[in-house]
Amino acid sequence: MKNDIKKISVSKEKIEEILTKLGAQITKDYEGREPMFIGLLKGCNPFMVDLLKHVDLYCTLDYMDVSSYAGMKSTGNVRINHDLSTNVEGKDIIVVDDILDTGRTLNAVVQLLKARGAKSVSLCVLLDKPEGRVAPIEANYVGDLVPNEFVVGYGLDYNEKYRNLPYIGVLKEEVYSK
Ligand code: IMP
Ligand code: MG
Repeated sequence: MKNDIKKISVSKEKIEEILTKLGAQITKDYEGREPMFIGLLKGCNPFMVDLLKHVDLYCTLDYMDVSSYAGMKSTGNVRINHDLSTNVEGKDIIVVDDILDTGRTLNAVVQLLKARGAKSVSLCVLLDKPEGRVAPIEANYVGDLVPNEFVVGYGLDYNEKYRNLPYIGVLKEEVYSK
């Protein structure tokens, strides 16, 4: 699998730095509150689990599975495949996802959580691709910025594979024509 990678975009070491930085920011910003982390499956893993180890707060977590992608192109359709098991009413929510690209997915999720009565909703993403943005949305916590290039690893997939790479990288061209 690692042979399919052309270039490493975010190394293991850089990911560790990001986790420490974001964990400290969230711990400070939510001092005295008990936020609920909502991870968007499947891309939020392992990011969410690793991030939570750096968050020194009482908190709860839940997951949603929302999809807007087929292969490499955004379809613009957002579908709830698996919903939360907890009520978000009156809660301070931190939505965690792998990457903010067009923003359609996260925009739809934020609106849904607000409509369900969340007290506040903030967004935490490992990566941000600002050039890809279509929806009017920004993340409150961003691990790193990446150019408009398709990346895989550490949760990010290409047709469901490569999520288990311990770093983030770009695939060799030949992988797409397989
Ligand atoms: P958005 O609605 O376009 O912001 O969609 C974000 C979702 O698209 C992410 O949660 C990923 O699942 C997927 N995505 C966007 N860019 C990439 C990428 O470079 N690699 C893998 N998945 C991506
Ligand atoms: Mg995703």
